[in-house]
Amino acid sequence: MKEMLAKIRENAALEISAINIDSEEAKNLLEDARVKYLGKKGELTSVLRGMGGLSPEMRPVIGQVSNEVREFIEKEVEEKKNLIAQRETARRLEKEVIDVTMPGKRNTSGRLHPLTQVLTEIEDIFIGLGFEIAEGPEVELDYYNFEALNIPKNHPARDTQDTFYINDNIVLRTQTSPMQIRVMEKTKPPIRIIAPGRVYRSDAVDATHSPLFHQIEGLVIDKGVTMADLKGSLELFAKKLYGEDAVIRFRPHHFPFTEPSAEVDICCFSCGGKGCRLCKGEGWIEILGAGMVHPKVLETCGVDPKEYSGFAFGLGLERIVMRRFDINDMRLLYENDLRFLKQF
Ligand code: DAH
Repeated sequence: MKEMLAKIRENAALEISAINIDSEEAKNLLEDARVKYLGKKGELTSVLRGMGGLSPEMRPVIGQVSNEVREFIEKEVEEKKNLIAQRETARRLEKEVIDVTMPGKRNTSGRLHPLTQVLTEIEDIFIGLGFEIAEGPEVELDYYNFEALNIPKNHPARDTQDTFYINDNIVLRTQTSPMQIRVMEKTKPPIRIIAPGRVYRSDAVDATHSPLFHQIEGLVIDKGVTMADLKGSLELFAKKLYGEDAVIRFRPHHFPFTEPSAEVDICCFSCGGKGCRLCKGEGWIEILGAGMVHPKVLETCGVDPKEYSGFAFGLGLERIVMRRFDINDMRLLYENDLRFLKQF
């Protein structure tokens, strides 16, 4: 039995030392060898099983030798294991080496689109005046976009606001004004909201037209609201947006959903009213439409015109942005060309 144990020792040593520590298999091969020699059904165990047949004098001798062999193989396995682990670490370090002299990756941060920048500014102004922000659908019922705003089916105002019809009753909204109706239907006065959003018209694309653009609607409904409140609010707004020197004027106009209606101009901030290229020699630049909410519109929404009155206004975001940043072609705002957008 001594010879058998010696043979096991020799074979184990050979097998373990033959394992190539560079090989991906090394770990598995070593475990296989360990099981083969030391495992429960391993060679060493099966030799020890035969100890029963030994004489009482030989038993302790063989027991001692087999213990030595076991310890020897365990040590061999342990040493090989460490070698493999060391080699693995060395390989990983080699692969994951970081060259600290390489230039870093630059983090480019984006920025807000000029339309968003100015919209946020306008929202902040109105929030400061006690307004809340309301949002509504861009795919809108004909009823909200036209009918309830006192623009019946055959009204000429529909010609200037031709749009995309989903069917006879559903359109892409041509204005943010339908939000007046939606808010009044849902909210009891006092109401003080602005409703920004996309609007659509079937206009051909050119430097000043786009089938998609943005408006900001305003609506105030309360007891005793007058034209003076409208003027005061818009004057405040103009001064906040264009500076304390800003001057506005009201020009009579017609909108089906307001009475009286006005277009509001700002005194040209480039020439101070003398007339220049920016204001096309007029001295004034139109910035929005406004008026006192038509009693018919109030009634349609279940608001009693004898008890309540209010004003509304609507402004185009693109025009304000284009003038603010001196952009001469509206298309630039939608083309997502970073060379353009990075300038703002
Ligand atoms: N919705 C109008 C348009 O697109 C703009 C407008 C005019 C809105 C007068 C209003 C208003 O709220 O009172 O031309």
